[in-house]
Amino acid sequence: MTADTISEIWSKLETAERRTLSQLFASDPERVENLSQRIEFEIPEHGINGLLLDWSKTHLDSDLLDAFEDLAEASGFAVARQALFDGGIVNPSEGRPATHGAMRRSGTEAQVEEAEALLTRMGMLVEAIHQGALGEIKHLIHIGIGGSALGPDLAVDALTRDLELVDVHVVSNIDGLALEQAFAACDPQTTLIAVASKTFTTTETMTNAESALKWLADNGVGDPSGRVIALTANPERAVEWGVDETRILPFPESVGGRYSLWSSIGFPVALATGMDDFRAMLAGAHAIDTHFRETEGRANAPLLAAFADRYYARVRGCQTRAVFAYDERLALFPDYLQQLEMESNGKSVTSDGDPVGGPTAAVTWGGVGTDAQHAVFQLLHQGTHVIPVDFIASIAAGDELDPAHHKALLANCFAQGAALMAGGNMSADGKDPARGFAGDRPSATILVDDLDAGMLGALIAFHEHRTFANAVLMGINPFDQFGVELGKKMARDMEGGEGDFDPSTRSLMDAAGLV
Ligand code: F6P
Repeated sequence: MTADTISEIWSKLETAERRTLSQLFASDPERVENLSQRIEFEIPEHGINGLLLDWSKTHLDSDLLDAFEDLAEASGFAVARQALFDGGIVNPSEGRPATHGAMRRSGTEAQVEEAEALLTRMGMLVEAIHQGALGEIKHLIHIGIGGSALGPDLAVDALTRDLELVDVHVVSNIDGLALEQAFAACDPQTTLIAVASKTFTTTETMTNAESALKWLADNGVGDPSGRVIALTANPERAVEWGVDETRILPFPESVGGRYSLWSSIGFPVALATGMDDFRAMLAGAHAIDTHFRETEGRANAPLLAAFADRYYARVRGCQTRAVFAYDERLALFPDYLQQLEMESNGKSVTSDGDPVGGPTAAVTWGGVGTDAQHAVFQLLHQGTHVIPVDFIASIAAGDELDPAHHKALLANCFAQGAALMAGGNMSADGKDPARGFAGDRPSATILVDDLDAGMLGALIAFHEHRTFANAVLMGINPFDQFGVELGKKMARDMEGGEGDFDPSTRSLMDAAGLV
């Protein structure tokens, strides 16, 4: 199919009749069934779990969906998806496949075999540490940044509310305060350091790692390097840096940084929750991989979500998308999604280097409900921006207090979606403009049975595939991130006293004593 076909489809999407959400519901009694679905999976020892994905409160209708299915076909979605799981070069600018799926048994036989060998090795090290092979270990300071920190931070935070086998602190920022805070919470005699870096060259991580070793040495730990575990796709560099080979957990180069939670970058998750939970997380992700691989058209949940994302970004001009988790355990989920979606799809050119024909990734932002209701929802309900919202909640409560807590949490979650859509006026005569709500504001809801390790894996994999599907519909490469390089280089130049900077930047450097 040609670029002409794609632009014809976009014209169709852009000129399609715009009906309100109320009109869409009124015209189709089966709208909820047509635009929502339940995906169920079973994980041995963990039981059956499921998630309900309701996209009925979006403006998608059957005409739009027909056109989007045509767009997916014209964009080569089926071929791209197969290439993803078959180890094809889906990251052409770096000439690499993207094999994070293989870490959860969704890939070629050879890749899955390699991944399993690496995970088995990781499991053995985790087990050995739990058994005391490195002495008594009560704390882990996990040092990494971006994809080497956000996933572990999210998963440890989400899955250790009941029990944490080892107390994990994730440190990413070069701001020494972050590391000092972790030091203050840990006993150096019983602390392990994980240095997590795909490249093992990232300035923040290597600087923090050096300081962590110094902290151990200054506090009487005789051989601090014996307390370091390296999680990396560059084991040679880790050896050069002084980590013993037995404590290096490698992962394949073809696993991208923001897709690396499933690899040894997930080591702190396994250490804190046990390898069994870590494996359950992989199994939940595998269930979504299977759905994504085997389901066609609008019945494919990540693809359907991508249709809505593209529709709002390009046709309705929505520049942001908000995600609110009505669950404390997912407090870090919006942060995680920001990197996944914005680093993957925040691009301006296609894989062929041509300008993309429309807006690419929306700005992802969000927070936790009900807190966010009392902070930012005013703008969602009455502001001039239309912001598509995703709500995420769990039917099973994460807490053990009076069930009234959880009932109120869920009621608030559902009420927000209903209010955004319905609109109305809160004044006595129904006419006060200040108390009026335009309504017709879109949202989607993901309601899970129970937010356990398997479900967390499923939720993350759903968003990975949604991000990939968005990229295919735009023709861009979601697996590179050259946009982060220029600023890094300039910072290095500045630190080294090199480079030619603009007058504003020179004056800031001067004011801070950097020159
Ligand atoms: O600067 C962006 C980035 O390359 C991310 O994509 C990556 O997750 C992060 O830096 C950390 O990289 P590394 O794991 O190599 O230290």
